[in-house]
Amino acid sequence: MRFYIPADVYVEKDCVKNHAKDILALGSKALIVTGKHSAKGNGSLKEVLDVLHAGNLPYSVFDEVEENPSVETVARAAALGKSLAADFVIGIGGGSPIDAAKAIALLMANPQETEAVLYTPKPLKALPLLAIPTTCGTGTEATPAAVLTNRKGGFKKSIAHKIFPTLSLVDGKYLAFAKKELMVNTAVDALAHLVESYLNSQSNVYNRMFPEYGLKLWEQNKDALLSNAPIDEKLYENLMLASTLAGMSIAHTSTAVPHGMSYDLTFNFNVPHGKAVGYFLAAYVEACEKSVPKDVRTILDLLKLKDSAEFADMVKRLIGTYEISRATVKNFAERMSENSSKLKLAPCELSKEAVWEIYEKSLVITD
Ligand SMILES: [Fe+2]
Repeated sequence: MRFYIPADVYVEKDCVKNHAKDILALGSKALIVTGKHSAKGNGSLKEVLDVLHAGNLPYSVFDEVEENPSVETVARAAALGKSLAADFVIGIGGGSPIDAAKAIALLMANPQETEAVLYTPKPLKALPLLAIPTTCGTGTEATPAAVLTNRKGGFKKSIAHKIFPTLSLVDGKYLAFAKKELMVNTAVDALAHLVESYLNSQSNVYNRMFPEYGLKLWEQNKDALLSNAPIDEKLYENLMLASTLAGMSIAHTSTAVPHGMSYDLTFNFNVPHGKAVGYFLAAYVEACEKSVPKDVRTILDLLKLKDSAEFADMVKRLIGTYEISRATVKNFAERMSENSSKLKLAPCELSKEAVWEIYEKSLVITD
């Protein structure tokens, strides 16, 4: 059994202000990597800039990271960082900017390499990286994974390098500025991380502590997510912590089958990550139930749900359904049946027929 998270993670209110010294100790010139809007709107970028100004630490901002960041965007940001001789990277936002920041920190630390190295296993180090999540789904602040879209290669998947942030500052208050739909989608992603790490052939008693506590916290937000009830500060903190705990868990197990199935939906149809994963979650739970009924029962009890049908109903109420043609989904299922790296993470044998059954139950298939 092993437990390994070489990232300094703080989860607390006003984290950025509280850890100004730790931020300034990361280097002498920063490249800040973020998306177009949210880090400006929720105050996270301003808080970071206040710290850098107070410490007279020079920086540049690359704010062009798109949803599902591409290898091309990462290469462009890394070229900027290298030209400025920045010696550390700050990723602020949801999973997209932080995952991009991980890959950028790797390319900046290895100027002799091109972006082709991102998908080439090689023992390379990245520059120091600060991660500041502002959504409650990705958990990337506590994982070594960075998922990029490779347009040339025609796929979306994790890069070949494991890059933990050096420092992660997690503050639930930024969620107050997120749109409800974004919060629901990202919360479903966190739920998927918690469930997929629990129903996982790599799970053990150490990393199960994280989803067990995370699912308990997630349940406390269930009613607010399902209704129009206001979400208060305590719930924001809960959602953010549940997301970080889920990250700590998948750092050990990796995500499993629903994530593997989701990438085709996102790559081909731009379905937001949380939704794309969420569509497959209930059928995965059901598929596992035959082999590991006790584990599924634990998950349902922590979420205060009667049975897996109620789980399916909850997820459907959160994200709705997705229509897709039979021909397309057959292609996706064929490909997934060959994806042994994800299939071996299920706690049960998933035959070709079982894989197809998950697709059939998860999507509204049109002829
Ligand atoms: Fe995810």
